Amino acid sequence: MILITGATGRIGRRVVNRLVAANQPVRVLVRDDEKARNLLPSEKIDTVVGDLADHDLLHSAVDGTQAVMLLSPVDPEQVELQGKVVTAALATSQPYIVKISGLGTSLDSYIDSGRWHAETEQQIQSSGLRHTFLRPLFFMQNLVFLLGSAGSEGVIRAGVADSKIAMVDADDIADVTTRLLIEKNIAVNENMTLTSHESVTYHQVAEAMTQVLRREVKYQQQTLEEVNQALLKSRQPEWHIKILLQFNRAFLEGMGDVVSDAVADILGRPAVTLQEYLEREVRESTGDHSSNPFPS
Ligand SMILES: NC(=O)c1ccc[n+]([C@@H]2O[C@H](COP(=O)([O-])OP(=O)(O)OC[C@H]3O[C@@H](n4cnc5c(N)ncnc54)[C@H](OP(=O)(O)O)[C@@H]3O)[C@@H](O)[C@H]2O)c1
Repeated sequence: MILITGATGRIGRRVVNRLVAANQPVRVLVRDDEKARNLLPSEKIDTVVGDLADHDLLHSAVDGTQAVMLLSPVDPEQVELQGKVVTAALATSQPYIVKISGLGTSLDSYIDSGRWHAETEQQIQSSGLRHTFLRPLFFMQNLVFLLGSAGSEGVIRAGVADSKIAMVDADDIADVTTRLLIEKNIAVNENMTLTSHESVTYHQVAEAMTQVLRREVKYQQQTLEEVNQALLKSRQPEWHIKILLQFNRAFLEGMGDVVSDAVADILGRPAVTLQEYLEREVRESTGDHSSNPFPS
């Protein structure tokens, strides 16, 4: 049995669908049963309804599993919530854990979410549970929200100047995660950065959108203050705005310009390129929408 947390989210739902297609026994922990039934093949999976905060529920959800995908959104409570899954794993069937971490994952990171991911990684390492830590830097799906202004105004706006960012398609993250969860013996106790084969600037993103949308798209650079003002209008909590600005700073400092071969190594095929992703996004309109410039 494989447990998927965050199963109704962007990565989780993709992983669940892949596991079911591969005839794997899947259990999901979801907060909203109806949402799960709309997004997931519910008749083919075992659904546990509840919150990561629920200690008893977590124990029964984790018990009997051989592998767990550990994912929850960036949140000041994430270390505590994810820590409960680790505790439940240790107390029950001691499954292999694939944890989704992110940009700047390190105990001394100035990115709050990077520190939080690192704290959970450290807890898992110290627990002795077999694990793999996946560290995507930037989902290509974050670009979905820019397609609106690209299509209507021919402009995309961001505050990362000419920084290069090694983005990755959520489908590739899901493919890698699925393979690790099924095989359970690849990359054990390793961490890997997940990216496509190139780093791109937002000028290149605009060029790729120009091709895909068949209309000229330009990149208009924002200052960090302009990004801040736009975020303040978006009614997000202060802690989240702080993290989004930390991401901007990290990209400006080149932290996103790290290309990894891990996707191709694990999957035996090249990672999806930005152009391929955008073509698919526009063709299929997957609805991975977000109101954040950098959803975390
Ligand atoms: N965006 C990026 O570019 C990026 C880059 C690197 C790493 N990451 C990492 O990716 C992760 C986010 O992945 P994602 O985009 O797939 O997430 P997402 O789409 O935001 O989905 C989050 C999932 O977690 C569930 N959830 C939230 N709080 C919960 C709780 N208290 N108990 C149980 N379930 C809960 C949500 O359930 P509901 O449907 O009920 O809300 C949803 O299924 C984060 O850890 C982030 O650091 C993101």
